[in-house]
Amino acid sequence: MEIYGNKQHKIIHGDALEALHKVADNSVDLIFADPPYNIGKNFNGQKDKWATEEEYLHWCYKWLDLCIQKLKPNGSFYVMTATQFMPFFDIYIRKKLDILSRLVWYYDSSGVQAKKYFGSMYEPILFCVKDKNNYTFNTEDILVEAKTGAKRKLIDYRKAVPTIYNSKKVPGNVWEFARVRYRMDEYENHPTQKPIALLERIIKASSNKGDLVMDPFSGTFTTCFVAKQHGRNSIGIELQEEYVKIGLRRLQLANEFKGEKLQKKIRSFETDKLATVYTLKLFEEPNG
Ligand SMILES: C[S@@+](CC[C@H](N)C(=O)[O-])C[C@H]1O[C@@H](n2cnc3c(N)ncnc32)[C@H](O)[C@@H]1O
Repeated sequence: MEIYGNKQHKIIHGDALEALHKVADNSVDLIFADPPYNIGKNFNGQKDKWATEEEYLHWCYKWLDLCIQKLKPNGSFYVMTATQFMPFFDIYIRKKLDILSRLVWYYDSSGVQAKKYFGSMYEPILFCVKDKNNYTFNTEDILVEAKTGAKRKLIDYRKAVPTIYNSKKVPGNVWEFARVRYRMDEYENHPTQKPIALLERIIKASSNKGDLVMDPFSGTFTTCFVAKQHGRNSIGIELQEEYVKIGLRRLQLANEFKGEKLQKKIRSFETDKLATVYTLKLFEEPNG
């Protein structure tokens, strides 16, 4: 297990169960956990598939317990998994934490071609706290446009003094954010990268500047990247060296890793664009 970074941002290259033991109990303000879903994705050569569902869940219960142990008494915990496993997580966690929201991250997906059943267009997220009477929730920082009454300038006559509907509201529990696509600026080479916008909402709502945010399955380190952008501190844990390199680069913690320059790989459409610019430049050059 290796630890990289500085006082504010730490990257732990290692197994989550082992690495979590290195984190002090009751020390983390916000945890976002996006583990392997046991659905056969390929994480840099490691197949995300356990021999049985029971084994997967048994493993999850171990890190869930550790995360809860690391969370401050007023901390918040957001956790994801595949739709078919979320009911087990819910039943397990509700005995230990207060589940305040059962969120649905919804996305449009033209790629889903299910013909004989209804294709999957969402991923569930549990939002839990240790103490439902004492937790951070920065309402003002996550308001969204209220699309109904306020837009039509309707008056709410149910109020003692009739007033115009609010034009802003706290988002409901269905969140629509586009999935990260190959052509998007934030794209990294990882099969299940989460969008910056999703983490922005979670981090802004459930932590304050200077707080410690932890992600035990960091992947492309979206959580730690967003935490840094918003003045929070972070701990990111990841098993695959290839993804640790993405984290070191995204968080600007290193330019080099074991002698290799850390650079974002140029995507195929960028090479085409570069070739066009180069060719145009050649034609622009005055002759002789
Ligand atoms: C669903 S992905 C996380 C994606 C991440 N949220 C992002 O935005 O890029 C799960 C990650 O967990 C990592 N992983 C799998 N087993 C692990 C373990 N035992 N300890 C730490 N990381 C692990 C995988 O390599 C993968 O990158």
